Amino acid sequence: MKMPRDRLIRYSPLDRANHWTMAMVFVLLALSGLAFFHPAFFFLSHTLGGPVWARILHPFLGVVLVLLFYAMAARHVRRNLLGENDVQWMRQIGDVLDNRDEKLPPVGKYNPGQKLVYWSLVVSIALLLISGVIMWRPWFAGYFPIPLIRFASLLHAVSAFVAIVTIVVHVYAAIWVKGSVRSMTRGWVTRAWARHHHGLWAREQEEAQRREQQP
Ligand code: HEM
Repeated sequence: MKMPRDRLIRYSPLDRANHWTMAMVFVLLALSGLAFFHPAFFFLSHTLGGPVWARILHPFLGVVLVLLFYAMAARHVRRNLLGENDVQWMRQIGDVLDNRDEKLPPVGKYNPGQKLVYWSLVVSIALLLISGVIMWRPWFAGYFPIPLIRFASLLHAVSAFVAIVTIVVHVYAAIWVKGSVRSMTRGWVTRAWARHHHGLWAREQEEAQRREQQP
């Protein structure tokens, strides 16, 4: 199907399927993880079929999240490096929060806030994987000394806290910027949205389209 002229493609079907599977897996991991963290949250173990199944499935789901997340993150790494105008955008954070978008310099596919979310997840999910493997009974924990396993369990809790707070910010920002969720459900954004929120990216996409149309 041909894309109408006033739209730009932002995410492929594969990107979107990956993202929403990852989002569901993340929620299941966060809820079952909270069940292990404190008795007040024990009832949440039922999200994975009760305490025994939650204990078995949580680490395997963690591996699924790692595979899905880094498959997506690897495709977006270049776009998440600090680019021209990003430092100026951060200096004008007051204008960002007060919705004075017209005063902001144009940014690429992601703004510095989105880049921060990206790198926070790259680091916290890596730490969750490393600490999780060290604690994973009966497979790997036997290879590590008990003080290290205790440290890993602390690191796991801290990294999970960082990842959950990051995702709460990510979801809030996605809802706050109107038109953003549609890019991840339908795959496209309007040209006006792209020019308004990601001016450099819009320019780059429009130039690529012009080149394609040239005979
Ligand atoms: C559960 C609710 C979630 C919602 C509503 C949501 C929404 C969105 C939206 C709208 C975008 C597109 C933003 C844009 O292109 O401007 C996006 C991108 C992205 N999301 Fe989510 N998301 C959710 C969960 C997650 C989770 C759990 C993760 C990772 C564990 C995640 C990781 C990402 C990544 C890596 C991107 C690409 C942006 C980048 O590379 O910085 N999202 N999300």
